[in-house]
Amino acid sequence: MELAAIEKGGYEHFMLKEIFEQPSTIHDCLRGRLDAVSGTITMAGVENNIEQLINANRIMIVACGTSWHAGLVAEYVIEELCRIPVEVEYASEFRYRNPIVNKGDVIIAISQSGETADTLVALERAKEQGAFIFGVVNAVGSSIARLSHAGAYTHSGPEIGVASTKAFTGQLAVLNMMALKIAKAKGTITNEYYLQLLQELQDVPEKVEAILKNADELKTIAAKYKDAHDFLFLGRGYNFPIALEGALKLKEISYIHAEGYPAAEMKHGPIALVDENLPVVFIATKDSYHEKIVSNMQEIKARKGQVISIITDGDEVSPTLSNDTFSIPTADEIIAPMLSVVPLQLFILCWHFKRCRC
Ligand code: BG6
Repeated sequence: MELAAIEKGGYEHFMLKEIFEQPSTIHDCLRGRLDAVSGTITMAGVENNIEQLINANRIMIVACGTSWHAGLVAEYVIEELCRIPVEVEYASEFRYRNPIVNKGDVIIAISQSGETADTLVALERAKEQGAFIFGVVNAVGSSIARLSHAGAYTHSGPEIGVASTKAFTGQLAVLNMMALKIAKAKGTITNEYYLQLLQELQDVPEKVEAILKNADELKTIAAKYKDAHDFLFLGRGYNFPIALEGALKLKEISYIHAEGYPAAEMKHGPIALVDENLPVVFIATKDSYHEKIVSNMQEIKARKGQVISIITDGDEVSPTLSNDTFSIPTADEIIAPMLSVVPLQLFILCWHFKRCRC
């Protein structure tokens, strides 16, 4: 480990440093694995166990906190690309209940530290019951890495900030590559779409860099809402877990109430909370759910809620329904969460700084 990796390097906080490190940490994660030109993904842990993975009856993803949110994104991606049923479990629930685990089951364990007690014990129990454990871990040589039958490191470098940021985008990078590799081997993805997604993954570091260059816009937006007492984060599809992640980050960093919800579910209760004092953050990038999420924005506007939306460059509809918008580069909906989470991480930190310093 280099000394610079565990110093703040001129940033005021580790979390800020780690958010800004993401172009290079994602690049490090992809480096030596993904080659969009030749159309290859090299991951020994997947290659050596490909039969086990493509023939899995189901995949169970076990994790906590932010890592659990990465698991939720992976559920959508793996089911879409690989057509294997996926269940996502909180490790703290899995370990105390009596889950059914069968021999053909694959467990993907996701953990930044590789030491989270609930995840570790859940895996020990699943291993005893004959499951194959694949670890997606950041900390090299950690307990979860050692307990796994196979795995892939995220190579995000030491994450000192308690609230996970760069480890999350690293987890998504690994899980996306894994899903693509399984889908290719299983024949559940067209070659054209496979090559497109490889190229899009390769482009992520550059796009994250472009988002970070506009950090000042997020500072300005955060200042406008510094007196809020609650926030609601809404997303659909691949961005639903990103809404959960936004709310978790805000709670963890700023000690105020925030709730993440699937945008369409809001009408079954939480919409009652919406009034002119409630900022509602929409993760509304251009994807197959976009029209639907626009109608959810209309519902919030009808109740005078304050809409802040994370949108795709060139979207002309969402700004007409939003008080504030932040644009991110275009990406396929499978890749988009790796981008849409970045402005949320920054917005939350900016909001915290504004609140504390005014
Ligand atoms: C929490 C951290 O305590 O642990 C979260 O605050 C993290 O940021 C969670 O996501 C799970 O940790 P890990 O190391 O298993 O990914």
